[in-house]
Amino acid sequence: MSELRFTPLSLASGHRLRNRLVVPPMASQTADRHGLATTKTISHYQNLAGSGAGLVMVEYSHVSLNGRSEPNQLGAHSDECLSGLTAIATALHKAGTLTGLQLTHCGGKGSRDICGDMMGPSGITVPAYDRQLEQPRAMTLDDIDQWRNDFIAAADRAAKAGFDLVEIHCAHGYGLNQWLSPLTNQREDDYGSSLANRCRLLLEIISAIHQRQPQLGLMVRIPGQDLYPEGLTQADMKQVAQWLVDAGVALVDVSSGIGGWNRPKSRRGEGYLVAEAQALCGAIGAPVIGVGGIESVSFIEAALRDKQLDLAAVGRAILRDPAAFNAVVMQPETCLA
Ligand SMILES: Cc1cc2nc3c(=O)[nH]c(=O)nc-3n(C[C@H](O)[C@H](O)[C@H](O)COP(=O)(O)O)c2cc1C
Repeated sequence: MSELRFTPLSLASGHRLRNRLVVPPMASQTADRHGLATTKTISHYQNLAGSGAGLVMVEYSHVSLNGRSEPNQLGAHSDECLSGLTAIATALHKAGTLTGLQLTHCGGKGSRDICGDMMGPSGITVPAYDRQLEQPRAMTLDDIDQWRNDFIAAADRAAKAGFDLVEIHCAHGYGLNQWLSPLTNQREDDYGSSLANRCRLLLEIISAIHQRQPQLGLMVRIPGQDLYPEGLTQADMKQVAQWLVDAGVALVDVSSGIGGWNRPKSRRGEGYLVAEAQALCGAIGAPVIGVGGIESVSFIEAALRDKQLDLAAVGRAILRDPAAFNAVVMQPETCLA
């Protein structure tokens, strides 16, 4: 009987997960119109902690008002957010789990109605599987400085609010994914053309956060690849992941890229994105989270045994009923493997 999912995992940042299960960031749309957490947000996370996962990620939180993609999105953009964020982190710690806050800027993956000023590295419309997006304007060097400062300030707030980890969202076609991808970044300055230049802003953000908040565990959600023709490849992402780990990232969360998090038409079955994590697992000097339709003990145990991932993220199966997930997957006696 295999019970690898109960093996603790220590990160280079000094944090220790009590097991190999992660609740990935999932937008709850429970914040108020100013991005402030409500009592509904706090009870939502208390409920998710009932899954028994060793790490509960808190949903994508915008670093500035023009980085918002949804009206009731949680924010980390101002000190007014601090009391709500602190209440979420406190509730999750009381439930015995580590917690991380995901930080995002939508860039060109939003709508002017919500973010006001929609911008992207080169003013190129972001491709998406499920909708036609508006064309953003091209960013200036001042905009780049602003994004960098906004991510750094939001990470400072995450630390102040008591989060163990902070995750920079660089996947699913959002702002920093747009910087990394050759589909949406066709600049010819120091922030464009080569992979190193396209990765520059992300690395500047990571290095600055690591320097200011060395006790904060740093995570990045990256695409395993863009899954779009001419987009980021797995080889590109192996190089990017290595740079990120060298810059202080303690945990790499591998999902999809331009196009969004939804299951691509060509992918089927439980663990439909786990091949993306597997390509990096054991190869970059930091543990890797895999995701995509995971829900069963047998899948999780096999993926851990075969080193396809170090941590299994379970989104919708936990969202449906955290307590039921705990009863079926997180109890040793129910192990099926
Ligand atoms: C309601 C919902 C909201 C989501 N919000 C986010 C988010 O805020 N940030 C993010 O990186 N991914 C988000 N995702 C994607 C999930 O983190 C996860 O990658 C995806 O659901 C696939 O995992 P699953 O098949 O276990 O659900 C969201 C998914 C759902 C269902």
